[in-house]
Amino acid sequence: MANNLKIPRHIAFIMDGNGRWAQQRGLQRSDGHRAGAEALKKMLIACSKKGIEAVSVYAFSCENWSRPQAEIKFLFSLISQFAKKELKTYADQGFRVRFSGDLSQLPKNTLNAINKVIDYSKNNTGMIVNIALNYGSRQEIVRAVNLILQSGIRSVDEQMVEDCLYTVGLPPLDLVVRSSGEKRLSNFMLWQCAYSELIFLDKFWPDFDENTLEEILKEYSLRDRRFGGIK
Ligand code: FPP
Repeated sequence: MANNLKIPRHIAFIMDGNGRWAQQRGLQRSDGHRAGAEALKKMLIACSKKGIEAVSVYAFSCENWSRPQAEIKFLFSLISQFAKKELKTYADQGFRVRFSGDLSQLPKNTLNAINKVIDYSKNNTGMIVNIALNYGSRQEIVRAVNLILQSGIRSVDEQMVEDCLYTVGLPPLDLVVRSSGEKRLSNFMLWQCAYSELIFLDKFWPDFDENTLEEILKEYSLRDRRFGGIK
């Protein structure tokens, strides 16, 4: 079986359940997010070993601003540290780092750290890591429409929309995985997932590791993708 694994070109993770993981252990939500960042490290390395071309992750949605200020502050400091240390290390290994979302509203130091690693890794040709930050899919589509309108075009086709999404140039999204037992997409990559396979796992995001990826790829390999056609 292991040799027959189908490898998606582009996989997206909705990293859910950090808070519940922490709660179950009598820890703070921030401990859950810290453990979530560790799981992300493991998953990125595991995906790269499998030859996956692009990994997208949902780190902070437009709706997450409604969380307590202290949690938001913690998340951005975690993401800044992650950009400065881990993402820089991955960039040295050839990963290309991109972000999706409205970055203009981010705290200045987070924005600086992000811009540095985007620039540092821009000529790399290895696995693409696409981090969705202050991201919402509807907002992304509306932004694309506005970009098209600004160019003066009055009739739109699918390719024009594709070209104005944050994911321009990334391989088609083959697979979306959500942790923690919730079975919804929560405004994540709605255009891109039109023909993606969807996998929902019951375990919380901090419990994801290399073995979880193996499980995911086994399940993905069993799926019969017909893209609306007949075999
Ligand atoms: C959802 O779990 C998770 C988030 C809103 C944040 C995701 C962030 C990380 C995994 C931290 C590391 C990320 C980077 C890019 C370094 P939740 O808090 O909603 O969990 P709950 O539903 O159990 O409360």
